[in-house]
Amino acid sequence: MRRTTKGPLTDGAKVLVAYYSRSGNTREIARRFHQVVGGDIVEIEPVDPYPDDYHAVVKQANAEPSSGYLPPLQTNVENIGSYDVLFLDALVVRGDNAGKNAITKWLSKFE
Ligand SMILES: Cc1cc2nc3c(=O)[nH]c(=O)nc-3n(C[C@H](O)[C@H](O)[C@H](O)COP(=O)(O)O)c2cc1C
Repeated sequence: MRRTTKGPLTDGAKVLVAYYSRSGNTREIARRFHQVVGGDIVEIEPVDPYPDDYHAVVKQANAEPSSGYLPPLQTNVENIGSYDVLFLDALVVRGDNAGKNAITKWLSKFE
């Protein structure tokens, strides 16, 4: 996890920017956003990342159970309750599970 000084939009608040990115676009946006708002930034990373090739991603996602499957993650934030604001950034995915399940898994840890 990386930390910068607080930005002007979130003065007084403890901020966490969390993101899931498969091919890097969301990572770049999250990093730029983090430069503006400050706080901490963390990448949500599955233990087994989805492949680079789009068709391979779709194939793998389609092979996963259609509901309820939450992939193991290597990302953990011990002190999530200490943050005032959480910005969650993820790629757009259609009906496939890629990314969506990783985000759901990460959020489920903090219920
Ligand atoms: C499995 C899969 C499904 C996707 N479905 C959509 C979609 O329904 N609509 C859309 O606009 N983009 C869709 N995309 C494109 C991604 O949202 C887009 O490429 C995004 O910039 C990828 O972000 P990333 O580089 O952070 O992984 C899909 C990409 C993948 C891999």
